[in-house]
Amino acid sequence: MTIRITGTGSALPEKRVTNFDLEKLVETSDEWIQKRTGIAERRISDGETVSSLAARACKNALEMAGKAAEEVDLILVATCSPELLLPCCACQVQDMIGASGAAAFDLNAACSGFLFALNTANVYLQTGIYKNALIVGSEVLSKLVDWKDRGTCILFGDGAGAAFLEASAEDVVYDNGRRAGIECMIQGSDGTKGMVLSCAERAVNNAFIPESHTENPYIYMDGQEVYKFATKQVPVCIQQALDKAGLTVDDVDWFMLHQANVRIIESVAKRLKADLARFPMNIHQVGNMSSATIPVLLDEWNRSGKIKRGDRLVLSGFGAGLTYGASVMVW
Ligand code: UT7
Repeated sequence: MTIRITGTGSALPEKRVTNFDLEKLVETSDEWIQKRTGIAERRISDGETVSSLAARACKNALEMAGKAAEEVDLILVATCSPELLLPCCACQVQDMIGASGAAAFDLNAACSGFLFALNTANVYLQTGIYKNALIVGSEVLSKLVDWKDRGTCILFGDGAGAAFLEASAEDVVYDNGRRAGIECMIQGSDGTKGMVLSCAERAVNNAFIPESHTENPYIYMDGQEVYKFATKQVPVCIQQALDKAGLTVDDVDWFMLHQANVRIIESVAKRLKADLARFPMNIHQVGNMSSATIPVLLDEWNRSGKIKRGDRLVLSGFGAGLTYGASVMVW
């Protein structure tokens, strides 16, 4: 059996917000942001929602895969910024694209969300429960960001990416001897450090207790703690995934990492002793879109023909939770 991605898609809001635009909001500079994060601009929603972006990305992925929405078995949306608590975003997407035969639900693992969704869908397909799945990372973080907090507002952007995962009965082996499909996955979480990157929902409030108010409804981040966690944990989990698959760093063509900070990606490359040229990046133009960063990057590199069938990819994410993971696949 082969389980592989046969279509990718993405959707970004039209509105571009540059570092110079942010200089007018908070005490910061284009120079500081570029030097410390690598970000030059990001897309910010002027009305598009997590579900509308997700639906657009899904339509693009299905079109590439040559599939009709009615044929989709499972829709998994990874998001931490849905516009509704009920119904879930995946059900909204199901309605918007007309995937009448699909089961649909959301998953929240923050910036690792797409990776966790991919791994979850992979297990459903491996067991034969479903034959295909649309997996999506979609975020409108701009509504959760405190635009007065220079420590966070410079980092995040809005957008969505999707991938269509399909199982086929036969094995696909490429000329380079590699067998197509997901080879290995590693996932982990450390809830003890959860509050270093958090965002409150409504506080407990009901007819039987005095009214209470949520203190801070915006994203709170201890940037240095998250930075330390990422630079330590990501290379470890990538190495664990490679060890599990019996592979080395040299067997990998592309390391597609969560786009949180160029310096984090550089540090991971250094720790793995891998050439930075094998770490695709688009953070300069889109910023950190949480669960959407990996699928948007994947779509960009897939559509431009930079990833070829037979290439080996490592996808790796990390973020709030704290959560982290890595998946190894032959494209
Ligand atoms: O998806 C996962 C989510 N998050 C992350 O991955 C974030 C990981 N962390 C980071 O990327 C970095 O920690 C940041 C980019 C958030 C911050 O960079 P840093 O190099 O860790 O800066 P810092 O927090 O140590 O701050 C250094 C200085 C401070 O000033 P003083 O105390 O040295 O005078 C900050 O107040 O930079 C100041 N600063 C800023 N200055 C200009 C903090 N933010 C800004 C800003 N513009 N936007």
